[in-house]
Amino acid sequence: MIWTVLLLVNGILFFLLLSNRSRSKREPPLDKGVIPWLGHALEFGKDAAKFLTRMKKKHGDIFTVRVAGRYVTVLLDPNSYDAVLQDSGSLDFSRYAQVLMERIFKLHLPNHNPAVEKAIMKQYFQGKSLSSLNSSMRRNLQALVTSETLPNQKDWKSSGLFNLCYSLLFRAGYLTLFGAETNNNSPDTRQIYKEYRTFDGLLTKMARTTLNSGEKQVAGEARESLWELLSAAGLGESASTWIRHYRQHLQQGGADQDTQTRAMLLQLWATQGNVGPAAFWLLAFLLTTPQAMKAVRREFNRVSLNTAKGPTLDSCQPTPVFDSALEETLRLTAAPFITREVLQNKTLCMADGREYDLRQGDRVCLFPFVSPQMDPDIYQEPEKFKYDRFLNADGTPKKVFYKGGERLKYYTMPWGAGGNSCVGKPFAIEAIRQFVYLVITHLDLELCEPESGLPAVKTSCYGFGMVQPEGDIFIRFSHRSCDGML
Ligand SMILES: *[C@@H]1O[C@H](CO)[C@@H](O)[C@H](O)[C@H]1NC(C)=O
Ligand SMILES: *[C@@H]1O[C@H](CO)[C@@H](O)[C@H](O)[C@H]1NC(C)=O
Repeated sequence: MIWTVLLLVNGILFFLLLSNRSRSKREPPLDKGVIPWLGHALEFGKDAAKFLTRMKKKHGDIFTVRVAGRYVTVLLDPNSYDAVLQDSGSLDFSRYAQVLMERIFKLHLPNHNPAVEKAIMKQYFQGKSLSSLNSSMRRNLQALVTSETLPNQKDWKSSGLFNLCYSLLFRAGYLTLFGAETNNNSPDTRQIYKEYRTFDGLLTKMARTTLNSGEKQVAGEARESLWELLSAAGLGESASTWIRHYRQHLQQGGADQDTQTRAMLLQLWATQGNVGPAAFWLLAFLLTTPQAMKAVRREFNRVSLNTAKGPTLDSCQPTPVFDSALEETLRLTAAPFITREVLQNKTLCMADGREYDLRQGDRVCLFPFVSPQMDPDIYQEPEKFKYDRFLNADGTPKKVFYKGGERLKYYTMPWGAGGNSCVGKPFAIEAIRQFVYLVITHLDLELCEPESGLPAVKTSCYGFGMVQPEGDIFIRFSHRSCDGML
C-alpha cells in the first residue's frame, strides 16, 4: 500500500517533470504509453518478449519507450548491434551493472574494476586451467548423477526435470569452482542449492525493485543464509584457483570480509544461474522430440570410450549434432537484455544508413531474443525446436545466416557479445555436454505425461539470462541396466 502511494507521488512528480518530453525529428519513434511516469513498465515487466515484439510491429526495429520514469531506446536490428556494442565511450555498461549489484546482492565493491575481474576470469577459464576445470566438473557430475540411482536396482524414481537438472549442475559447479572442504563443517551442497533457489526465484523482482514486503523478507533471509554458507568460499585449498585468486584480488583491493562474501554470492549466481536451466531445456526438447534424441544418442555412442567406470565421453571428440541441438535450445530460451547507459548525446548509425540521435541519460537496450533469435526473417518457424538447424547438409556446423540479404555477424547471441560476452562459455558448454551425456547413458528416463508437452515459460524473467519454466515437467528414471548401450 505504502509502495503504491509512494509510487503515485513519485509518478506525479516525474510526470510534471518529464511528461513534456517530445520527439525531435532525428530521434527514434517515441512511445510513452498512457500511464504517467510508469509508461510501459507493467507490460514490459510482465512479458518483455511479447511487449517488444508488439512495439517492433508498431514502430520498426528502433524506438524509445518510457519505463518507470526512464526512457529506453530499444534496438532490434542485429546488423546494427555493433554500433552499440563497440561504442564503450558514449555507452556505458558498468553503471547499470552496479545498480543491479547493489539491488540484488547488496554489494558495493571498493575500487571496482570490471575489466580486471574479467581478465582474472579469462586467465582461469582457458588453456590448462580450463582443462583441469573440465575434468573436475566431469568427476563431480559423474559422482552426483550416479548417486541418484543405485546400480542393479530397477526402482523408478520420479522428479521434476528442472529441479533435477538445476540441482545436479549447481552442486557440481559449486564443488568445482568454490570447493569442497572435507571437514565436517563444510556446507552441504543441497542446503546451498535450496537457499539459492529461493533467492534465484525472486531475483528478477529484486532487480526491478518490485518485491512485496513478504517477498522482501524471504529474499533477505535467503541472502543472509547464503552469505553464511559462502563465508569461507575460496579460502581453502580445495577451491578452484580462479576463486582463490579472485578472493585475493578483493582483499588487496580493500574489500572487507563481508564484502568478499557478498561478491562470492554474485559469482555463484553468475557462474551457476544459467547452466542448469539450459540443460533442462535441452533435455526437455530432446525428450519431446524423439528424432532429435535419437540423433544425439547415435553421436554420443560414436564418441564414447568404454572405461572401467563405464562409458565416458571423450572430451576431445567433436559433437556437431549435440552442439547444434544446444545452440538451437539456447536460441529459443536464452533471453538476456544487453543494456547500456548513454553518457553523452550521440548519433547512432544503423547498418542501412539511417541515423538517430540518442539522449544523454537514456538507456539503450538490445534484445537479441526478439531479433535475431526469434526473427522469422532469419529462421523459418522460429518457435519450433529443430535440432539440426545449426548443421549443414554435410554435417558440419552451420554459421551462415542472412537477414534482408545481408549476412549476419550475430545470428544468435545467448552468450552476449563484444567486450561483455561470457568468459565461461567453453566451460559451461562442456558442463552441459557432460551432464546430458551422463544422464542419457546412465539413466533410463521417460516423461510421466508425454502428452502434456513442454511447460510454459515464466514470462516475467525475460531479460535476465536463461528463461525458466512455469512449473516443471515430471520424469521417471532408474539406473540404466545395459551400460554402454545407447
Ligand atoms: C573443455 O571443454 C570445452 C568445451 O567442450 C572445449 O572447447 C575445451 O577444449 C575443453 N578444454 C580442455 C583444455 O580440455
Ligand atoms: C543533448 O540532447 C538534448 C536533446 O536533444 C538537448 O536538450 C541537450 O541540451 C543535449 N545535451 C548536450 C550536453 O549537448
